[in-house]
Amino acid sequence: MAGRVAALLVAAGSGSRFGGETPKQYALLGGRPVLRRALDAFSATAELRLVVIAPGQEALYEAAVAGLDLPAPVPGGATRQDSVRAGLESLAGLGWGEDDIVLIHDAARPLVPRAVIDGVLTALAKAQAAYPARPVRDTLRRGLEPVARDGLVQAETPQGFRFGPILAAHRAAPSGATDDIALAAAAGLEVAASPGSSRNFKLTEAEDMILAEALLAAGRETRTGLGYDVHRFGPGTAVTLGGVSIPHERGLEGHSDADVGLHALTDALLGALAEGDIGAHFPPSEARWKGADSAVFLKFAGDRVRARGGEIVNLDLTFICEAPKIGPHRDAMRARIGDILGIAPPRVAVKATTSEGLGFTGRREGIAAQALATIRLNSED
Ligand code: CTP
Ligand code: MG
Repeated sequence: MAGRVAALLVAAGSGSRFGGETPKQYALLGGRPVLRRALDAFSATAELRLVVIAPGQEALYEAAVAGLDLPAPVPGGATRQDSVRAGLESLAGLGWGEDDIVLIHDAARPLVPRAVIDGVLTALAKAQAAYPARPVRDTLRRGLEPVARDGLVQAETPQGFRFGPILAAHRAAPSGATDDIALAAAAGLEVAASPGSSRNFKLTEAEDMILAEALLAAGRETRTGLGYDVHRFGPGTAVTLGGVSIPHERGLEGHSDADVGLHALTDALLGALAEGDIGAHFPPSEARWKGADSAVFLKFAGDRVRARGGEIVNLDLTFICEAPKIGPHRDAMRARIGDILGIAPPRVAVKATTSEGLGFTGRREGIAAQALATIRLNSED
């Protein structure tokens, strides 16, 4: 019964009601593109995320998904229905099968709560189609004529389907369906409703960004964590620092690749989460971490932030050593760290200082690194 889950995000609209220079799906919300926030919302539930984009917006798309491992985006069509259809055909090409699940979501709904997604998946266990719905609150009127509110709901996304039936329904459908549920119902699929949320509104006009920014900030708190690490020099011809291999007259000793920079960053993130330290998660006593690429440790910490519904605001890493010189490698390290964590390099600072010949770093016995991580998390006790 339970198939694989794909999230299909439609982001090929022109946002005519929203206006502005940047299409709404790429507007910055809390410093991140709207599309990126919508994609991140599905990171824990979908094994595949696919985006339908407007031709000509490839550069905006690439910037928005930096660091994510997604299949190539699909060119959208003139209407939302056309865009969804193009995405479904592409999913079929990627091997999505009859009983797999597809969650079709408007990229313009970046704040979709995890509970709404889970609710759709739960409802799908017993139906071929499911969607989040919320009772209409305001009095409705057509002209001066009141419209009875009984049973009227607002339909949200993600709308979830067994893949086979919705693909068939799309292929058979005439144009003009308002959403995928309408099309599924017309095709005779059995539809269930699940709880929607006021947070899951669709960005439609520019003013909606004010509400989205406020919702994003409410219930979030900023946390910081500090990391520190030292490794001793030993025989060798290169050191790995900040994920970058640098030729040097000595190497660094350690159980893993001895990357003090990535270790300090890992501990800074774990510190911000209050989830122990690198040694607790990757004990040096375990042989499998021998010679390990420290990117594995850092990625783990980044995944923990995401699993808690959080995000990395910025990282600040300082090396303390007389040599090698860090400056020439700074930007390569920032790019590598950004890549490991799926964040943009402008959020990563890499600095270095000597210790004026004083102490163990001054005597060139080893390298130290310290790091500060700032993250945003949902407020908890
Ligand atoms: N969409 C799409 N392809 C289209 C039209 C819409 O992929 N041809 C997407 C939009 O990008 C959006 C979602 O469908 O994520 C919901 O559509 P809507 O809110 O109407 O967005 P726009 O069509 O972009 O906005 P407007 O109607 O104001 O032009
Ligand atoms: Mg539209």
